[in-house]
Amino acid sequence: MSADAQKRAVAEAALRYVSRGEILGVGTGSTVNHFIRALADLREDIPGAVSSSEASSALLEEAGIPVVSLNEVNGIAVYVDGADEANNHLQLIKGGGGALTREKIIAAASRQFVCIADESKLVGALGGFPLPVEVIPMARSYVARELIKLGGRPVYRQGVITDNGNVILDVHELTINEPIRLEQQINNIAGVVCNGLFAMRPADTLLLGTAEGVRTIQR
Ligand code: 5RP
Repeated sequence: MSADAQKRAVAEAALRYVSRGEILGVGTGSTVNHFIRALADLREDIPGAVSSSEASSALLEEAGIPVVSLNEVNGIAVYVDGADEANNHLQLIKGGGGALTREKIIAAASRQFVCIADESKLVGALGGFPLPVEVIPMARSYVARELIKLGGRPVYRQGVITDNGNVILDVHELTINEPIRLEQQINNIAGVVCNGLFAMRPADTLLLGTAEGVRTIQR
């Protein structure tokens, strides 16, 4: 089964986690795009969705699902999103699509976080995928020097401005033995808006596409 077929399978499997009549959180990326298209069939049962990106908002509107602001709602029942890497504790690296800050806010505001991914995303240790760090533009060089002190090799994501008007450094070659500690250390660098480690708030459920079908991993 191709990676794309696995993504479609987990996207469809995620439909049964959607809580009818409650606000849904929706992430960003190619796996989530499959999820949004599948969600169109449930549109009558979904009062609205909080979206993590302009791209997902446009797809949600196409699917007939109202996009609402997080400030208008009293929390989110379920958040469905993809990942660039996941470990067995369901700690994640996210942000390959550049939407990490909004994704982290929605994950924090959600009662349940369901991560959907193809099997290539499950790893023994996080860090093979470069860690995205969203940075206030004027702090870019300073933050890069601080990330080098943490053992990483930051690379400026040229030509990309996030939905929040910031820039992204992708940090290669990090050794991530203690994901929670590293997440906190990077958050503490002045000028960092957010980093793509989701360790303090990991996923609750991982739906993993495999050649044998969808595997469910609970935290
Ligand atoms: C976007 C993300 C995505 O969830 C991550 O990049 C996975 O994308 P895809 O589903 O296309 O493999 O974190 O910021």
